[in-house]
Amino acid sequence: MTAEIIDGKVIAAELRGRVAEEVARVKREHNLVPGLAVVLVGNDPASEVYVRSKHTQTQAAGMASFEHKLPADVSQADLLALVAKLNRDPAVHGILVQLPLPKGLNTEAVINAIDPAKDVDGLHPNNAGRLAGGFEALSPCTPLGCIILTKSVHASLEGMNAIVIGRSNLVGRPLVQLLLNENATVTIAHSRSRDLPGLVKKADLVYAAVGKPEMVRGDWLKPGATVIDIGINRIPKEDGKTRLVGDVAYQEAHAVAGAITPVPGGVGQMTVACLLVNTLRAACAIAGLPKPAV
Ligand code: GUN
Repeated sequence: MTAEIIDGKVIAAELRGRVAEEVARVKREHNLVPGLAVVLVGNDPASEVYVRSKHTQTQAAGMASFEHKLPADVSQADLLALVAKLNRDPAVHGILVQLPLPKGLNTEAVINAIDPAKDVDGLHPNNAGRLAGGFEALSPCTPLGCIILTKSVHASLEGMNAIVIGRSNLVGRPLVQLLLNENATVTIAHSRSRDLPGLVKKADLVYAAVGKPEMVRGDWLKPGATVIDIGINRIPKEDGKTRLVGDVAYQEAHAVAGAITPVPGGVGQMTVACLLVNTLRAACAIAGLPKPAV
């Protein structure tokens, strides 16, 4: 058996198309232009690539995009002052501060300063707590994308055994909550878990978000499992360049799984598409409009 390949490129493009239609509608009917502000501190090359992609895709969806680049040695006070200004700006409906922040800045304080209504990353404790409580919330984009990819294979996740490997605030923990909302049975595994291969073997749905290249092996998987690989690891090649690999040994897993996301071309594509969804939803909520159709 070989796995169906879950095409994140196609699914993300379809989602961006639906966002663009709704953006055009709220513009036409309510004169509302959703706006996203992205704050990049310092010049981490990977972060610069992500931020550029967010900017391009936000504009392509018909939304306003505001980019703020600050030097790596910006003071905490100046960064907080920018966040406060964006909180007050009526043209801004979503605020994303690109992580990780350079050393010396207090990430928790910056996240806490974002207006929860504009927190399109879903990282503010108000949103994280609402999600954990089963209430409506802005939820982190990568986990939202993982759920959409899973549902491209399974119409319902009810009663399925899911394992989430990794417990970060940006991915693992919120993904667990979203899976619970879908009525999956969820195991949370991490670096201290015992017998990880044995835990993975029981899972119908495997989510790998550990940041360790090709850690999850093919023979760990239950045959037919759906594998969502959230890892993006750059590893050196002989010619001095790098190649991207996920947290799953793709070739091995592809021979055992029922469906699998490639890296690149899987989850990565979905994160920005879901950021556009969150910005549209935040804009409608702030404007007091009904929820958009996406
Ligand atoms: N860095 C990598 N992914 C993300 C993300 O989804 N949001 C933020 N703020 N920073 C990131």
